[in-house]
Amino acid sequence: MARNKILNIGITGASGSIYAQRLLHYLDASPEVEQINLIITASGVTVVREELGIKISGTKQADVTELLGRTSDKVKLLPAKDIGASIASGSYPVDAMCIVPCSVNTVGMIATGIVRDLVHRAADVTLKEGRKLILVVRETPLNKIHLENLLRLQQAGATIMPAMPAFYHRPKTIIDLVDHFVYRILDHLGISHSQATVWQGRCHE
Ligand SMILES: Cc1cc2nc3c(=O)[nH]c(=O)nc-3n(C[C@H](O)[C@H](O)[C@H](O)COP(=O)(O)O)c2cc1C
Repeated sequence: MARNKILNIGITGASGSIYAQRLLHYLDASPEVEQINLIITASGVTVVREELGIKISGTKQADVTELLGRTSDKVKLLPAKDIGASIASGSYPVDAMCIVPCSVNTVGMIATGIVRDLVHRAADVTLKEGRKLILVVRETPLNKIHLENLLRLQQAGATIMPAMPAFYHRPKTIIDLVDHFVYRILDHLGISHSQATVWQGRCHE
């Protein structure tokens, strides 16, 4: 019998931790998701504190409650330093991984096959096992090294989804803007959601 999805979510130290917060909100609520393994890098902790005003440690399950605003049986926090965690092995059955937001530091690490934490290792495993890896990269402007690393990762099988929100749905609030982009991540993770993200053609008003 087919099981529900097991996903890895990495939060790194790029701007845009609200994308991760909203994605976790939807994944936790989805009946199609069985488990979410969450890893937050040390810089990710700093940016979450800075942008969301939430004090997390990156090492304790209580971080999940802080991020979601509720407890969760599905989201399991794995410390970024725990290189021996289950998801460090390709034998662990993960359907996909999304790093959101993804710093250009982490992009560089994955692109060169260097492993310094569990985010890098889990991403490396995702690629080597031929599974879906989504990188919500955020930096601007991008230099030649960033662009070459991103091309290398795209050619290695990763899906590059720069954190570029759209405006054609006429967002009224930051949450409108963020959620529309999060729905596109859900589309790529193969998770159903109630929001129409398919452009229906130009409106003639
Ligand atoms: C408030 C803040 C915002 C940052 N924004 C970005 C960003 O948008 N993109 C980026 O690549 N790095 C950004 N950085 C720098 C990264 O956090 C830094 O390069 C760090 O080493 C990344 O480590 P990690 O990839 O292990 O999370 C930011 C740092 C801080 C403190």
